[in-house]
Amino acid sequence: MPIVVVIGGQWGDEGKGRIVDLLARKARVVARYSAGNNAGHTIINEKGEFKLHLVPAGIFYPDKTCVIGNGVAIDPEVLLGEIGTLQERGISVSRLRISDRAQVIMPWHRLLDRLEEERRGDAAIGTTGRGVGPCFVDKVARRGIRIADLMRSEDLNERVRAALGYWNQVITKVYGAEPLDVDECCGAYREYGERLTPFIGDSQDIILKAHRAGHYVLLEGAQGSLLDLDHGTYPYVTSSVPSSSSSGAGLGVGIGPTDIQRVVGVFKSYCTRVGNGPFPTELFDDVADTLRDHGKEYGRGEYGTTTGRPRRIGWLDTVSARYSVRMNGLAALALTRLDVLDGLETIKVCTGYELDGQRIDNFPARHSMLERVTPIYEEMPGWQRPTTHVRNFDDLPPQAQSFVRRVEQLLECPIDLISVGPEREQAIIVNPIF
Ligand code: IMP
Repeated sequence: MPIVVVIGGQWGDEGKGRIVDLLARKARVVARYSAGNNAGHTIINEKGEFKLHLVPAGIFYPDKTCVIGNGVAIDPEVLLGEIGTLQERGISVSRLRISDRAQVIMPWHRLLDRLEEERRGDAAIGTTGRGVGPCFVDKVARRGIRIADLMRSEDLNERVRAALGYWNQVITKVYGAEPLDVDECCGAYREYGERLTPFIGDSQDIILKAHRAGHYVLLEGAQGSLLDLDHGTYPYVTSSVPSSSSSGAGLGVGIGPTDIQRVVGVFKSYCTRVGNGPFPTELFDDVADTLRDHGKEYGRGEYGTTTGRPRRIGWLDTVSARYSVRMNGLAALALTRLDVLDGLETIKVCTGYELDGQRIDNFPARHSMLERVTPIYEEMPGWQRPTTHVRNFDDLPPQAQSFVRRVEQLLECPIDLISVGPEREQAIIVNPIF
């Protein structure tokens, strides 16, 4: 049975958690492979509404093993808080497993995230402030602390002393801030290590055993491909690999690219972005407010799950989306939040960019160029009827069907699943993904 990766095709918040929650029904294992608690997934099911930052969305099914892979940056305090909240609300976490190769977000990572954003001033990235970027800096500098280091006081002491020996110099001399205390960090994190010990597992072994025994495995992406460190709108990106290109997904759980059979891309029917950076189809008018506040009264508006920041809103951009389809080798798409467009008289889709009188069909690398492009739009009639009850493609209003077909054509990839509401059942399965 296949290992399927679910990734975000835009700037995050496409509704991956909702799609994973739906697809997880058939999977044996659901694993997170990248990012950290900068990510936020909102899941609504019969047990209520949940906001998850680290625990995979499969946790709501009692028979799924949920894995946090080595590629994830874990803030143990946040993870233990999430585990506690799930338990309090009657969700069992006995099948949660955490790779001891995963990196740990330490107090200096959160501090450096804030200090560096302040230093950048107007050029700030608009990070979530969760310390994820500095944590990946330490990983690459081979100075990081891993979950395995939390298991033994001597190891933790040695690693923290080495890291703070470097960072306290930077904190005091570059930023003029107070240094951090080695013993304080070690005490708290050693205790986190003890509390996390029952959850430690080998992500590679769990995934490959399930796969070889004939079970489906879902690898759950975080954020979106346009925030990818390599392929996104650099430097306004995150510090990990949300895309599945170069097998970012396999890397983050310890399996090879040949084990992955399928990559499903999740795209919203329009675009959103939080944080700074270029956004060619961004809207500043009433349409943006209408889309942002759709369902706000049910907590469904376009506001960040992690930070609560209002999301920037724009029309669907098929130039960046096609780039995403190609970089991820997508064979199937899930289109989310179609119902959010229900009330609109007309809908626009960006099919190209114009810059200095020239048409551009490919996504440019330079952010200063992306900031100057003018989107070329195709305008389509809206349907002005609710779609939230629709479960078959043929029952969608004809204008909604034409919108979906046109998006498929522009993205050069079939749309296999359409979501028309936040509930698990509010979905149209055009082709079964597995
Ligand atoms: P960082 O990942 O906190 O360093 O933030 C870098 C950029 O990624 C900022 O623009 C954030 O707003 C964005 N970002 C990080 N995580 C998410 C997410 O889960 N959804 C949307 N944007 C995100």
